[in-house]
Amino acid sequence: MKDKVVIITGASSGIGKALAFEFGRHGSKVLLAARNFEDLKTIEAAIINQGGSALAVKCDVSKEDECRDMVKKTINEFGRIDVLINNAGISMRALFQDVEMEVLHRLMDVNFWGTVYCTKFALPYLLHSHGSVVGVISIAGHIGMPARTGYSASKFAMHGFLKTLRVENLKTGLHVLIVSPGFTASNIRMTALTATGKMQGETPRDESKMMSAETVARKIYLAVVHRRRSLILTLVEGKLTVFFSKWLPGLVERASFRRLSREHDSPLQKAEVNHVAD
Ligand SMILES: NC(=O)c1ccc[n+]([C@@H]2O[C@H](COP(=O)([O-])OP(=O)(O)OC[C@H]3O[C@@H](n4cnc5c(N)ncnc54)[C@H](OP(=O)(O)O)[C@@H]3O)[C@@H](O)[C@H]2O)c1
Repeated sequence: MKDKVVIITGASSGIGKALAFEFGRHGSKVLLAARNFEDLKTIEAAIINQGGSALAVKCDVSKEDECRDMVKKTINEFGRIDVLINNAGISMRALFQDVEMEVLHRLMDVNFWGTVYCTKFALPYLLHSHGSVVGVISIAGHIGMPARTGYSASKFAMHGFLKTLRVENLKTGLHVLIVSPGFTASNIRMTALTATGKMQGETPRDESKMMSAETVARKIYLAVVHRRRSLILTLVEGKLTVFFSKWLPGLVERASFRRLSREHDSPLQKAEVNHVAD
């Protein structure tokens, strides 16, 4: 990965920030994209201080023009693109019966359309370099995650898009990697949208028991180097859940409901009450 040009969306926090340091440490030239420019500049400075090469670019991936400009800036600065990591994302927590439509649109705009825009504009350069498109989906992109309809739908959409892109490019040399992290300690539950679109502002889970963003980044780095197709992280909530969802889907659905209804203040407790009341 030395001197390879790597675009990382959502590089201001969590997995994206850890990826920036991981690729930077291996000598890649990293383009850091997100909305919070101050945080990006701090990360850019830290990577440069460590002898690496980085450029921070403010980019809201839900805006097509900003994605086009971000790719242009990458080419102006570094002259090529070898890896695009579509990592920027937001989550939600609310029952479908309560959630406002705007929240579902926002989830699709950031997670799905953000991936589509960045991939569309970077693709000609990635085809030229026989590079890699990486999509950070989630276990929620394999199974229905209750109280996260918009999140699961956006991750399933990313999954379908990336799988199709891979088949279309079987003969072009483009590598497509689909990453499905399990629960990872990060900001994602703080910024998750509630039914009305406000940020949740707290995490309903014990973040200290989760995989670290740095571990996820290391595994993604190796999967890019080895041009793997798929990376599913964590054993029980990740690999086993995805495996059994194909053979025992009802069991996985019940387990998923049970697990998520135990979260602090889970909207699913209300879904159970409604059911009993009926
Ligand atoms: N943490 C988990 O448990 C977990 C599990 C499975 C999958 N994932 C996926 O992993 C990815 C990274 O999440 P994380 O856990 O690292 O969460 P995080 O710490 O909240 O980071 C999310 C990143 O996405 C960026 N982002 C959000 N909206 C954006 C927008 N409109 N345009 C550009 N950037 C935007 C944020 O930056 P700004 O706010 O500065 O824009 C931030 O850098 C997400 O796709 C998430 O769905 C996470």
